Amino acid sequence: MARKFYLTTPIYYVNDTPHIGHTYTTVVADVIARFRRMTGQDVYFLTGTDEHGQKIELAARAKGMAPIALANQVVERFRSLWTTLGISNDDFIRTTEERHRRGVEKLYQKIQAKGDIYKDAYKGWYCTSCESFYPESQIVDGRCPDQGHKVDWTEEESYFFRLSKYQEPLLRLYKEHPDFVFPETRRNEVVAFVQAGLKDLSISRSSFSWGIPLPGDPKHVLYVWFDALSNYMTALGYGSDRKLYSRFWPADLHLVGKDILRFHAVYWPAFLLSADEALPKRVVAHGWWLRDSAKISKSRGGVVDPLPLIEAFGVDALRYFLLREMVFGQDANYSDEAFIERVNTDLANDLGNLISRTLKMIEDYCGGKVPRTDPRFRGDEPLKTAARDAWAAYVKDFEGLDFSSGLSRVSDYVGALNRFIVQNEPWKLAQDAGRRWALDSVLYTVAEGLRIVAILLAPVIPRSAGEIWKRLGLTGDVTASSLEHFRWGELKPGRVIARGESLFPRIDKAAYLRDATAAKEPGMDPQKPAPTAPSQPPDPDPAAPAPAAPALAAAGAAEVGIDEFARIELRTAKVLAAEKVEGADKLLKLTVDVGDGTRTIVAGIATRYAPEALVGKTIIVVANLKPAKLRGIVSQGMLLAASDATGTPYILTTEEPVPGGWRVK
Ligand code: ME8
Repeated sequence: MARKFYLTTPIYYVNDTPHIGHTYTTVVADVIARFRRMTGQDVYFLTGTDEHGQKIELAARAKGMAPIALANQVVERFRSLWTTLGISNDDFIRTTEERHRRGVEKLYQKIQAKGDIYKDAYKGWYCTSCESFYPESQIVDGRCPDQGHKVDWTEEESYFFRLSKYQEPLLRLYKEHPDFVFPETRRNEVVAFVQAGLKDLSISRSSFSWGIPLPGDPKHVLYVWFDALSNYMTALGYGSDRKLYSRFWPADLHLVGKDILRFHAVYWPAFLLSADEALPKRVVAHGWWLRDSAKISKSRGGVVDPLPLIEAFGVDALRYFLLREMVFGQDANYSDEAFIERVNTDLANDLGNLISRTLKMIEDYCGGKVPRTDPRFRGDEPLKTAARDAWAAYVKDFEGLDFSSGLSRVSDYVGALNRFIVQNEPWKLAQDAGRRWALDSVLYTVAEGLRIVAILLAPVIPRSAGEIWKRLGLTGDVTASSLEHFRWGELKPGRVIARGESLFPRIDKAAYLRDATAAKEPGMDPQKPAPTAPSQPPDPDPAAPAPAAPALAAAGAAEVGIDEFARIELRTAKVLAAEKVEGADKLLKLTVDVGDGTRTIVAGIATRYAPEALVGKTIIVVANLKPAKLRGIVSQGMLLAASDATGTPYILTTEEPVPGGWRVK
């Protein structure tokens, strides 16, 4: 029988709309769920919303709404974002549901029966933003120690949970199960916190009413964290139908942000120890997305809304970026620049071009059918081995939650496939009928390599992986493939491929940043950012070397050999004349002398250079670039320019007065 795997995200507060932090947690959980399903596990994946408590009551009041009306409104934003993102959760729990209330009451009653609840008065500081009590000694300038929110002095009658009684059992738990809290740095923090001493925990509130009434004393509502944490059990039918509960409890992994680790790694196991319920296997805390070094949060702002990113770049670009960019467990800074560079480099450039050039060559040279490898061909051995190694390393990384590293293995393999194409020059093999067998073998190898890439990317970008799968002529769902056993050669010759449109259009960084800035200016008409035309032909010539586009990020680009570089003919060119291109704000038309005659080059540099300032300069051009038509003008090359973070171009010139036509290497 398949091993069960029960996985949860935090349940999110409904005081405001979801941002990129919530998106990150949920996408990571989805990737884990998909990965585990592909390794043959029986996965149950839960997410939901946390709808009670003072924070929601206040947020609703500020909007002149009843708390449930606010919850009903905001919950739909979470649900619909998760649908858009292709989140594969098995259930979605709301803490205002009846099934939840029943389970919470049962858990409370078990703890009460154990003698772990008593009535007293609470006097102290409360942070409504964190929904947390803090001792006087931890308050700094009237703010909470965890996230610097304003705290309020609170005095009210309260029921207490004997948390102090569980200090030793908890320390034993961390010792006997060193994996219980992950990563290790976080584990050490938790251990230190508990070692410092645990005070009993106020577990009810009586100064407001938006919550689950305390069984036996309805003047109180249960403390919202007691209510919320119980969701992990109540969603499985704890307190009502025990079928799912006995199949999936205890949780195998509670995924949380580091902000709420204490609740999950200290209070939650203490409640469960008291109630004699099995403990979760693991609590895993990830880092924060920061903006300008501050945590992105609903209460503090700096919020990054995932919806415009999805609209502009697509779901898979966002999913890929989140998993690839943040080293799991650490904090990461969000910026539009980093987003665009990551997506352009890994997806549009490396993977996108691999797909389009491979499918185009199969179409052009093999009648659109997957060719057959010839036994005489030996050149595929290194690629088979590399695929096997990448697969094994990726599985190990994903099991260890190191998604960034796992994805870099896939990128490396994509790079190896691109180099394999360049080294084997199929476009030359195609001109020699006697080498047909080699051409077929090379193209089969790359197509099979792409099949492996599609499987490895399926947990992270399921839709695009499915599209690669389909284009290779494969049937069924790529996400139904098994990650358990590596097999080379499953792509059957003769399958009909489908070339299709570019899967990952290149993002024009400068245009996006300009539009995004304009949208933020008050009084300006917010233009919707949209992916603009790729700055290189969308349909790259398979015979061309790896594409060189002006804004290509150096970081993360695949390595090239000196022989590949030598295929690009760089030459000096003297600018003889320059003029603006009508109707195009960014373009200049240059007439240049490249030694063996004059050429026309259209360049997107008008935002920084006046035409007359360029005449007489010696610039560097790619002389053997396939001509491309821009605004009806045929551009016979491309000039080189550096660009800053906003995409502003700075042309490259020679320090000495060099004539046009010299080779640059
Ligand atoms: O805490 N970076 O809900 P919440 C990364 N209802 N992740 C972030 C983030 C950021 N800047 N900001 C938020 C609650 N998150 C409780 C949970 S569970 C029983 C109850 C993510 O809406 C991260 O997972 O404030 C964090 O733990 C969670 O959202 C907090 O969501």
